[in-house]
Amino acid sequence: MLSKKQARAFFLGGTLVTFLIFIGLTVYSLSAAQDQSNLEDLSESAIRGKYIWEKNNCMGCHTIMGEGAYYAPELTKVVERRGEAYIKATLMTPVPWQPNGRKMVAYEMSEQEAEDVVEFLKWIGNIDLNGFETVVSPLAKDKINK
Ligand code: HEC
Repeated sequence: MLSKKQARAFFLGGTLVTFLIFIGLTVYSLSAAQDQSNLEDLSESAIRGKYIWEKNNCMGCHTIMGEGAYYAPELTKVVERRGEAYIKATLMTPVPWQPNGRKMVAYEMSEQEAEDVVEFLKWIGNIDLNGFETVVSPLAKDKINK
């Protein structure tokens, strides 16, 4: 049994040690050497693509790195999975894109806009995910991820 004094010292010591470990790990995580965002590859075109992405609320249906809505396929690795031409077709078509039943808005983007979105998705696809696996669509994985 610890005395009251020992218990207090144990509590304060334990708190201090875990707090210092926490601060140390935070500094380590935020250090430049740990940066996995490949920020230096961010082109003007990719930035324009990001604006298009925000303006059209793509996150309202899609996810990137699991973030967003689960109505439509995950897009983190979509360039790898589908290729640029397929993505451009989904964004430039005048008819709603729905090979698998659910509808994607017909954005009728210009070639340039579609290219900017592809550049943005390429940049996203090259982020080091540290082994995190993105799931295309938990409900329709086999159907969509062919
Ligand atoms: C209203 C919901 C909705 C919105 C908003 C939306 N999408 Fe989609 N999108 C879909 C659906 C549903 C599919 C799947 C269509 C299918 O395969 O049948 C899809 C498919 C795609 C695909 C092909 C993915 C694959 O793996 O086959 C890409 C790329 C894509 N969308 C990009 C975008 C971008 C970029 C935006 C914003 C500019 C956007 N989407 C906005 C619903 C949406």
